[in-house]
Amino acid sequence: MDNLLDNAVRHSPEGEAVTVQAACADGRWRLEVADAGPGVPDAIRDRLFQRFTRADPARGRDTGGAGLGLALCAVIADLHGGSVVLAPPNGPPSGAHFVVDLAADPREAAV
Ligand SMILES: Nc1ncnc2c1ncn2[C@@H]1O[C@H](COP(=O)(O)OP(=O)(O)O)[C@@H](O)[C@H]1O
Ligand SMILES: [Mg+2]
Repeated sequence: MDNLLDNAVRHSPEGEAVTVQAACADGRWRLEVADAGPGVPDAIRDRLFQRFTRADPARGRDTGGAGLGLALCAVIADLHGGSVVLAPPNGPPSGAHFVVDLAADPREAAV
Protein backbone atom coordinates (compact mmCIF):
# COMPACT_ATOMS: atom_id res chain seq x y z
CA MET A 1 0.00 0.00 0.00
CA ASP A 2 2.89 2.36 0.74
CA ASN A 3 4.28 1.91 -2.76
CA LEU A 4 0.88 2.14 -4.45
CA LEU A 5 0.10 5.36 -2.57
CA ASP A 6 3.56 6.79 -3.25
CA ASN A 7 3.17 6.07 -6.96
CA ALA A 8 -0.36 7.52 -7.04
CA VAL A 9 0.70 10.75 -5.34
CA ARG A 10 3.81 11.13 -7.51
CA HIS A 11 1.83 10.68 -10.73
CA SER A 12 -1.12 12.85 -9.70
CA PRO A 13 -1.51 16.43 -10.82
CA GLU A 14 -0.81 18.82 -7.94
CA GLY A 15 -3.74 18.92 -5.52
CA GLU A 16 -5.70 16.04 -7.10
CA ALA A 17 -7.25 13.48 -4.77
CA VAL A 18 -6.08 9.88 -4.60
CA THR A 19 -8.91 7.44 -3.88
CA VAL A 20 -8.34 4.52 -1.50
CA GLN A 21 -10.97 1.85 -0.91
CA ALA A 22 -10.97 -1.29 1.21
CA ALA A 23 -13.66 -3.96 1.40
CA CYS A 24 -13.77 -7.44 2.86
CA ALA A 25 -16.14 -10.04 1.46
CA ASP A 26 -16.16 -13.83 1.11
CA GLY A 27 -12.88 -14.14 3.03
CA ARG A 28 -10.98 -11.77 0.75
CA TRP A 29 -9.73 -8.21 1.17
CA ARG A 30 -10.00 -5.99 -1.87
CA LEU A 31 -7.87 -2.85 -1.61
CA GLU A 32 -7.95 -0.23 -4.36
CA VAL A 33 -5.79 2.81 -5.06
CA ALA A 34 -6.83 5.10 -7.90
CA ASP A 35 -5.42 8.41 -9.06
CA ALA A 36 -6.30 11.06 -11.63
CA GLY A 37 -2.88 11.16 -13.28
CA PRO A 38 -1.98 10.21 -16.86
CA GLY A 39 -2.26 6.47 -16.23
CA VAL A 40 0.36 3.80 -16.87
CA PRO A 41 1.82 4.09 -20.38
CA ASP A 42 0.80 1.27 -22.72
CA ALA A 43 4.49 0.63 -23.45
CA ILE A 44 5.18 -0.75 -19.96
CA ARG A 45 1.83 -2.36 -19.09
CA ASP A 46 2.89 -5.89 -19.99
CA ARG A 47 6.01 -5.77 -17.79
CA LEU A 48 4.72 -3.42 -15.09
CA PHE A 49 5.27 -5.91 -12.25
CA GLN A 50 8.76 -6.92 -13.37
CA ARG A 51 11.82 -5.50 -11.61
CA PHE A 52 13.33 -2.24 -12.88
CA THR A 53 10.37 -1.39 -15.13
CA ARG A 54 9.95 2.38 -15.30
CA ALA A 55 8.46 4.74 -17.87
CA ASP A 56 10.50 7.66 -19.19
CA PRO A 57 11.61 9.45 -15.97
CA ALA A 58 11.06 12.80 -17.67
CA ARG A 59 7.30 12.20 -17.56
CA GLY A 60 5.32 14.50 -15.28
CA ARG A 61 6.29 14.75 -11.63
CA ASP A 62 7.72 11.23 -11.63
CA THR A 63 11.23 11.67 -10.26
CA GLY A 64 12.50 9.06 -7.82
CA GLY A 65 12.40 5.31 -7.63
CA ALA A 66 14.28 2.35 -9.03
CA GLY A 67 11.35 0.49 -10.55
CA LEU A 68 11.25 -2.12 -7.79
CA GLY A 69 8.08 -1.11 -5.96
CA LEU A 70 5.48 -2.91 -8.04
CA ALA A 71 7.66 -6.02 -8.33
CA LEU A 72 7.77 -6.10 -4.51
CA CYS A 73 4.00 -5.48 -4.32
CA ALA A 74 3.41 -8.50 -6.54
CA VAL A 75 5.66 -10.76 -4.44
CA ILE A 76 4.13 -9.57 -1.15
CA ALA A 77 0.57 -10.01 -2.44
CA ASP A 78 1.47 -13.50 -3.65
CA LEU A 79 2.89 -14.42 -0.23
CA HIS A 80 -0.44 -13.33 1.29
CA GLY A 81 -2.32 -15.65 -1.03
CA GLY A 82 -3.38 -12.83 -3.31
CA SER A 83 -2.50 -10.62 -6.23
CA VAL A 84 -2.10 -7.04 -7.38
CA VAL A 85 -3.27 -5.92 -10.81
CA LEU A 86 -3.64 -2.75 -12.81
CA ALA A 87 -7.33 -2.35 -13.62
CA PRO A 88 -8.11 -1.96 -17.33
CA PRO A 89 -8.43 1.65 -18.51
CA ASN A 90 -11.89 2.99 -18.02
CA GLY A 91 -12.07 5.63 -20.73
CA PRO A 92 -10.06 8.87 -20.70
CA PRO A 93 -9.08 10.50 -18.42
CA SER A 94 -8.50 7.18 -16.74
CA GLY A 95 -5.60 7.69 -14.34
CA ALA A 96 -4.13 4.54 -12.79
CA HIS A 97 -6.23 2.13 -10.75
CA PHE A 98 -4.54 -0.71 -8.87
CA VAL A 99 -6.48 -3.52 -7.19
CA VAL A 100 -5.01 -5.74 -4.47
CA ASP A 101 -6.71 -9.02 -3.57
CA LEU A 102 -5.63 -10.72 -0.33
CA ALA A 103 -6.76 -13.70 1.72
CA ALA A 104 -8.42 -12.27 4.85
CA ASP A 105 -7.26 -15.27 6.86
CA PRO A 106 -3.43 -15.38 6.83
CA ARG A 107 -3.58 -19.17 7.24
CA GLU A 108 -4.87 -19.32 3.66
CA ALA A 109 -1.70 -17.64 2.38
CA ALA A 110 0.44 -19.93 0.26
CA VAL A 111 3.67 -19.56 2.27
N1 LIG B 1 -0.01 5.54 -10.44
C1 LIG B 1 0.76 5.49 -11.54
N2 LIG B 1 0.52 6.29 -12.62
C2 LIG B 1 1.31 6.23 -13.73
N3 LIG B 1 2.38 5.40 -13.85
C3 LIG B 1 2.67 4.60 -12.81
C4 LIG B 1 1.88 4.59 -11.61
N4 LIG B 1 2.41 3.68 -10.76
C5 LIG B 1 3.48 3.15 -11.39
N5 LIG B 1 3.64 3.71 -12.61
C6 LIG B 1 4.70 3.39 -13.60
O1 LIG B 1 5.25 2.15 -13.24
C7 LIG B 1 6.66 2.30 -12.97
C8 LIG B 1 7.07 1.28 -11.93
O2 LIG B 1 6.54 1.60 -10.65
P1 LIG B 1 7.32 1.07 -9.37
O3 LIG B 1 7.62 -0.38 -9.58
O4 LIG B 1 6.58 1.46 -8.15
O5 LIG B 1 8.72 1.82 -9.47
P2 LIG B 1 9.16 3.31 -9.12
O6 LIG B 1 8.06 3.95 -8.32
O7 LIG B 1 10.43 3.12 -8.35
O8 LIG B 1 9.38 3.98 -10.46
C9 LIG B 1 6.82 3.76 -12.59
O9 LIG B 1 8.14 4.20 -12.79
C10 LIG B 1 5.84 4.42 -13.53
O10 LIG B 1 6.41 4.55 -14.84
MG1 LIG C 1 7.05 3.05 -6.75
